[in-house]
Amino acid sequence: MLDYDDEADVYDRTRGGQARADAAAAALSGLLPSRSVILDLAIGTGIVAAGLETLGHRVVGVDLSTGMLRHAVRRLPGRVTRADATALPVSSDCVEAVTALWLLHLLDNAEPVMVEVARVLRPGGLFLTTADKRSADRLAAAAPAGSPVAQDNCARLTVLGVRHNLQLTAATSFVGHGQARPGGVDPVYPVLAFRRAVGRG
Ligand SMILES: C[S@@+](CC[C@H](N)C(=O)[O-])C[C@H]1O[C@@H](n2cnc3c(N)ncnc32)[C@H](O)[C@@H]1O
Repeated sequence: MLDYDDEADVYDRTRGGQARADAAAAALSGLLPSRSVILDLAIGTGIVAAGLETLGHRVVGVDLSTGMLRHAVRRLPGRVTRADATALPVSSDCVEAVTALWLLHLLDNAEPVMVEVARVLRPGGLFLTTADKRSADRLAAAAPAGSPVAQDNCARLTVLGVRHNLQLTAATSFVGHGQARPGGVDPVYPVLAFRRAVGRG
């Protein structure tokens, strides 16, 4: 994984800036009830979270990188903290919506995050995550398919969801403005929505 403390000061401008963030926020928002209260995992610099706030949602967030959080705290003062997405400082069964944008593909194993999301979500709560990021990047660059199966693979997340009481209920996508490789086009990134079952499995 990249060192996001080193990346923090250039992150926004090298990841499509406001255009990418606004497209991502609009996609997430389209799958959420209006005025949702959201826990954003891997909030990064907070650029997407700020977009969600502009759309009427209320966001709190966690990230592992203090460098990234230094930017996020300016956008969401008092509402971000350093924490691991696999050990959230949050009570069980209380969160309305959890988002994770461009997190799961970075991990060696997405399952501990799914377990933690299922724990903190209230019954009927939503988990929104990007999926198949590297496949989307390769398709946009017309590059050959890679292996092995990524942690944010749609089929893998669906299976993990079934295992942990999170049912795949919807999907959307957003254009990764500014993310085209030389000779390629801007990738289109899938976003999946899982709903926590009302009873524990
Ligand atoms: C590609 S950035 C995405 C940031 C933001 N979601 C966005 O779309 O702009 C990945 C972020 O995940 C964070 N991260 C990686 N592993 C994490 C973990 N286990 N718990 C919390 N944050 C993590 C990194 O510090 C980094 O800020």
